[in-house]
Amino acid sequence: MTADEVRAKFLEFMKAHGHAITPSASLVPENDPTTLFTGSGMQPMIPYLLGARHPLGRRLADSQKCFRAEDIDEVGDNRHTTFFEMLGNWSLGDPAAPDKIGTGYWKEEQLQWLFEFLTEEIALPAERLYVTVFAGDEENGIPKDEQSIEVWRNIFGRAGISNGLAELGTVAEGHRQGIKKGERIFAYDVTKNWWSRSGPPDGMPSGEPGGPDSEIFYEFTEIEHDKKYGEYCHPNCDCGRFLEIGNSVFMEYRKKEGGSFEKLIQRNVDFGGGLERITAAANDNEDVFDIDVFRSLTDVLPAVMTIKAKRIVADHIRGAVFLISDGVIPSNKEPTIRLNIFCKQF
Ligand code: SER
Repeated sequence: MTADEVRAKFLEFMKAHGHAITPSASLVPENDPTTLFTGSGMQPMIPYLLGARHPLGRRLADSQKCFRAEDIDEVGDNRHTTFFEMLGNWSLGDPAAPDKIGTGYWKEEQLQWLFEFLTEEIALPAERLYVTVFAGDEENGIPKDEQSIEVWRNIFGRAGISNGLAELGTVAEGHRQGIKKGERIFAYDVTKNWWSRSGPPDGMPSGEPGGPDSEIFYEFTEIEHDKKYGEYCHPNCDCGRFLEIGNSVFMEYRKKEGGSFEKLIQRNVDFGGGLERITAAANDNEDVFDIDVFRSLTDVLPAVMTIKAKRIVADHIRGAVFLISDGVIPSNKEPTIRLNIFCKQF
């Protein structure tokens, strides 16, 4: 399957479920001085997540161009890139309060649609999918995400596959326990299953929205766990057996002045799925650089280059082209210039 096919299937699927399709915003954020580049699908949606009315209604979907400079040192392995497309869908508002601009939805619809999209449209085998959920944050008074656990239990149960819950909490505990027979749903703490642009609750500035998330992973069964990453494997292990392909954020909190949390005026769903990673999973090939959008670049690079070097060059060329097409001009001097970030690796 090609990246174009995956993108088209996603947007069609979301359209059929009542979403308006919006164009990708620029990689250079508009009216948002907080980050240099657009790094997630939700970034251009922030005013609407906070309660402003979007002219196209409460259900939106897109494929957003993203650039994450913070991942630059990981590029060269088989799955990290600086530039990627994030497939996204949003529900802006409460399903219990439909109004004339449309109806929102919540966990039940989001998780069911995601499962249907991956297993029916992309044809991923359900038994290769594993999910994580939020274990709760006592310190900030944010409860465990029992509803997502229940919804996932029902989804996997209806599909006739195991649906056991493992309360791992931390990544270290995951390495101690591994995956026991029948386990499919894994609860982790704020470091893994809380999403905001600034990471876990303690690092969020006041006013920032965030919430518990539920991530979905594809298992590459050919990859043997490598004990250098920890005694046993689990979805958040870095050995490469599990690849995160999507993240459903249930964005219903906002940090207040003083550090405590309050509910936003509306409950939002913020889904983001890596187009290149979903395409790799669709092809059951753990090397993201083997999908069509990278092959067209790596195939013409000199054979003497190592795989790692080819991946870095392919990623950086792709990122540079998209940045330039959004008006970023390379230079090694001007403070307005962003591309000198690439010089780090050459
Ligand atoms: N905001 C979430 C992410 O970037 C989901 O869109 O993963």
